This record gives sequence, structure tokens and C-alpha cells, in this order.
Amino acid sequence: MGRKPKQYSANSQFGASKGKKDSIGAKNSLGKEVKIRQPKEIARLRGMRDILPDEYKYWEYVINIAENICKYYGFMKTDVPVLEQMSMYERSSGKQSDVVTKEMYNFIDKDGDKVALRPEGTPGLVRSYIEHGLFNLPSQPVRMLWTGNLFRRDKPQSGRYRQFTQTSVEMFGEASPAADAQIIIIGYLILKELGIDAQVHVNNIGDGSDRENYAKKLVDYFKDRKNRSLLSPDDKKKLLKNPLRVLDSKDENTQKALVGAPQIIDNICDEVRDHFVKVLEYLDELDIPYILDPFLVRGLDYYNRTVFEFFSADSSGNAQSALGGGGRYDSLVEFMGGRPTPALGWALGIDRIILKLKENDICIPVVNKPDIFLAQLGDAAKRKAMIFFEELRTRGYQAAQNFSKDNLKLQLEQANKLDVKLTLIMGQKEIMDGTILMRDMESGMQEVFDFKKIYEELDKRLKN
Ligand code: HAM
Repeated sequence: MGRKPKQYSANSQFGASKGKKDSIGAKNSLGKEVKIRQPKEIARLRGMRDILPDEYKYWEYVINIAENICKYYGFMKTDVPVLEQMSMYERSSGKQSDVVTKEMYNFIDKDGDKVALRPEGTPGLVRSYIEHGLFNLPSQPVRMLWTGNLFRRDKPQSGRYRQFTQTSVEMFGEASPAADAQIIIIGYLILKELGIDAQVHVNNIGDGSDRENYAKKLVDYFKDRKNRSLLSPDDKKKLLKNPLRVLDSKDENTQKALVGAPQIIDNICDEVRDHFVKVLEYLDELDIPYILDPFLVRGLDYYNRTVFEFFSADSSGNAQSALGGGGRYDSLVEFMGGRPTPALGWALGIDRIILKLKENDICIPVVNKPDIFLAQLGDAAKRKAMIFFEELRTRGYQAAQNFSKDNLKLQLEQANKLDVKLTLIMGQKEIMDGTILMRDMESGMQEVFDFKKIYEELDKRLKN
């Protein structure tokens, strides 16, 4: 008796490799002692997903809409490697950020280089902008559009995967508040076009000196024992290393402690405030629904001034449910070795947007639905049908077939399931006579046509 293959549920999103594993000792890429687990069977890794054909249509639909809107606003498709120097992410995303300290997949390759699978797209795009001297391009600002996979070794759960996809835009060389507003508006319009009732959470985290002064005030606030006692151990550590990250803590007690804390928006200089006021005025002008969120700081180190996240209006509004996010990063290009260049951008989480579409039962249009089914009976007819089927494609018709079936009844059943308008039938007799049989699937009427006139007839019948 053969071994029964293991069944995985199509809805099991988080990977399947939970089964028992043999383990042996070794050191991981950070030099820590770990047990190497030997999987007993071949299965997906935890947090990784397969996208099966029925699901893939959502991906094509969402990415297509997102990219087309970005292209309309002048963003140009760009791609960068999945594997980059690990130090690039340490330098840009931040040595203390969760993305780098906890979530990055990094290893030393066989040449001895420390490399990492990209945990986010922005650093690679900035590197590429610098490396190819794109500040020399005649048309400025430079607008990049990118869609790709990212890897974060986070705790897998709904909407949080270890491999996920983002579509992102980055604009280099533009400091005006109109750019901040336009970037936000494009993200909002994409979600709206997809049928999501989107809302923007927005904040301003000031420039470098604003943040330094504010961080001191925040630390002082938590010197008060009453406030400090509420902080979780993790947030106490953050207060020492990167005080602003305490603001977006998910810990309930920390959130209570923050109620009376000084707000960053009250601690920004006049120039930054004027910039922010203008951004909000543009958003008001275009009726973009936004919420001023004083606790929004974003989890990556490079941001300054405007930061924002996109949510669905019916979601809880915590960072776990963000459909996208971004902001200004005016110092990053220089920090990574380029000229001082103001820059900004966002990334939309495609996986989460698709979850939202499904949750809200938003239907997506069927693309490339066949109009014609080509059925065949007998070997000679099958051979001719194969040639004819390819001719239909090159002439721009949407057709379907099942040449591996010989039974006409089964082929007609399939044509019915596909809901085609017409079924063309080629059999031995038709081949001999130089004719073809056409069945109108709605009326059930069948007619024989001269094969030479078939395109004329198809055009007549399919013209609507
Ligand atoms: P981020 O906030 O880390 O920003 O990610 C953007 C979006 O990616 C999130 O709002 C979420 O929708 C999605 N996302 C993040 N992590 C996961 C995950 N583990 N599973 C599924 N979806 C996830 C950035 O990555 C910045 N580079 C965005 C940016 C571009 N800022 C300026 N330019």
C-alpha cells in the first residue's frame, strides 16, 4: 500500500513545518548556540505562503491597480536585489530597530560576506539611487516604483508573514510639502480604487534636533516614578536606547503612562511646523480623511518630519493592521554615502490589502475569461484543433481547450463550467468537409460553417 500524502488545508496561512524534527547543535549567524532542526518531511517553512491559482488573481489585480496609479503620477518601475550587504540595513533601517535586531534573515555566504535577505525595500532603492548617480538624471525629482518580496522573521499570524510583498514608491530630490501630500494622496487613492474605505494616520516627528530635544523631555517625563512604574521591561529598555519607540508601544500600561506625556508635535521648530501645516492643508483640499496621531513614530530609524500609515476605517488602527506606511527620510541618502537629498516614500502591504478585500467580500473582475471553447473528436481533428487553437490566440481571441480529453460530453461540460459564449467542435467529418460546428451556449443552437469563414462568424457573434 502506498503512503498517504499529508494533507494541508488551503487556509493554513502560516506554513506547515510544525512536525517533530530531529535536532543537532550548531551556531547561528549571530554566533548563538542553536539546535539545527532536521525536518522529517518536505513542507513549507513557517510564515511562508504558497499562492495558488485561485488566489493569484487577487495579487495581479491589486498590484496592477497600485502600479498603474503610481505610473500615472510619474513613478517608474525599478527593481533591486533580494540579497544585499547586511551592513546596509544596519546603517539605514537602524541597528536598534526590530527589523534588524530580531527579524532579519542574515548569514555569512561562502565568500565570507555578511549578507541579508531584504527586510524592507527603501535601503536597496536608496543604494541604487546613489550607486547609479540618479541625481544626474535630467528629469528630477526621481520617482521610483517597486514591487517585491521581503523577509522578516517575525511571529507568524494573520497579516504578518515571514515572506510578504510590498509595492512601494520613493521620491528623491523633492523637499516641498506638496510632495508629502501627493505621496499620501497616491496611497489613499490606490486603496480607494480597490474599494477600501481608507484612513490616513499622520504625525510629524520633526527634524534631528527636534527629536533630540523631545527625546530628552520624554526621558524626563519617565523619571517620575509614577509614570516609570507603568512601563513594561521592554519599554524601559527602549527608553534607554531609542526613547521615541516607547510612543508606539503595544503595551497597555505603557499606553496609559503615555497619556500625560509631552507630544512631539508641540516640540517641533517653526519651519517644520509650517511644512506640516501645508501638508495638512493639501490633504484637506483633496478631502483625504486623516487622523493626527501623536504616537505614530514608525519602526525604522531613518524618518523625519511627516510620517503616516494607511488603515481601513473599520480596523483597530494598531500598527499590526496597517495596510501601508511611510514618510520623509531627508537624511538617509547622505547617511548612506550620497549627496544631501530630501526624499520620501511609502510601501503598501499587498498581503494585508488582499486579506482586507476578502474580509470585505470585495469582488474582483475576472480577467482573460474565455469566450470560446474548442472541442475536438478523433486524432486528426485533435491535430488540426491544436494548430487552430494557437491561431485563435495570435488573432486575439480568448479561447479554452482540453486536448487531453477525447470524450465530447466531458469537453462540453467543461465549456459549460467556463461559461463560454461559443463552443467550436471539430470532428472527423468536419475535417474532411472543411467545415466546423459552432454551438451557441446560451441558446443551444448548433450550426455548421465553412472553416474559411469562421473568423468572420466569430467576430459577428463576439462583437458585443
Ligand atoms: P513598514 O511599515 O515596515 O515600512 O511596512 C509597510 C507595510 O508592509 C506595512 O504597513 C504592512 O502593511 C506591510 N508589512 C510589514 N510587515 C509585514 C509582515 N510581516 N507581513 C505582511 N505584511 C507586512 C517599510 O517597509 C518602509 N520601507 C516603507 C517606506 C517606503 N518608507 C519610505 N518609503
